[in-house]
Amino acid sequence: RFETIATLRQHLNSLHAAHSIALVPTMGALHDGHITLIDTAKRDNDVIVSSIFVNPVQFNNPDDLARYPRTLEEDCQKLEAAGCDIVFTPSVNEMYVESPVLKLNFGELETVMEGAFRPGHFNGVGIVVAKLFNIVQPNRAYFGQKDLQQVAVVRRLIRDLSFPVDLIRCPTVRENDGLAMSSRNRNLAPGEREQAPLLYKALTLAHDLLMEGQSTSQAKAAVTGFFTTNPNFRLEYVDIVNADTLQSVGEVLAPGQTAICLAAHLGNVRLIDNLVF
Ligand code: PAJ
Repeated sequence: RFETIATLRQHLNSLHAAHSIALVPTMGALHDGHITLIDTAKRDNDVIVSSIFVNPVQFNNPDDLARYPRTLEEDCQKLEAAGCDIVFTPSVNEMYVESPVLKLNFGELETVMEGAFRPGHFNGVGIVVAKLFNIVQPNRAYFGQKDLQQVAVVRRLIRDLSFPVDLIRCPTVRENDGLAMSSRNRNLAPGEREQAPLLYKALTLAHDLLMEGQSTSQAKAAVTGFFTTNPNFRLEYVDIVNADTLQSVGEVLAPGQTAICLAAHLGNVRLIDNLVF
């Protein structure tokens, strides 16, 4: 385990020449979704580096940052059990000697969905991921489809700044009842946790309607209606988009190209999910 950039860099220098290195960035409070990223990375790489850093720059809501679950010791044990070789757990000061003045703008990618509802979020994600790429210099980096827009943003970051990193998108891992695993699920009250799988139900409803030949606007209207009959949820958005560009589409695209994405508040927890098909 390393806590400083300098000691981590020194250690990695000796590994780079002979080994392929994978990076799995996280904010901790690890669950099986994160561990699946480690498992996937282990299949194709010699050395697995995972970072645990609750990145303040990507939080647009101070309460969300304050409430974000932190379980560092447990996380390190899980990573070790999963066969992760190196864990990077920097402090905020280690990562940000000063708060960054650089601003990253991802254009159309961030004017929609998460970008629209969480102003500045992808600037913060882009900055921390770029820093981690520079610090670790991985051959491959593993990200979850759960955060589909983040995948698109990082893909663009890699292209625009010529990072020599292969981005690997890994499928969303779900609980048995369909709820997408998320660190924020820990903040759900027991009654809310019971209702949370409705998010996935809404996605499958929209998917089924599209498969029956209904239009994208009919499918979106059905999801909106679904949540008005479930008043504990406050639907923030539902959209049917191109899975790479995240822009709205009026019809279903080729297999694997269409995504249904939504965000909803349940109590004081904000949840997101998507289906790619
Ligand atoms: P975090 O939310 O901890 O997620 C870390 C990685 O795990 C992300 O790539 C995310 O998409 C993936 N992940 C989360 N839940 C998943 C699930 N149920 N199935 C599969 N993968 C899942 O995303 C972040 O942290 C941060 O924005 C970060 C990239 C670390 C930058 O700070």
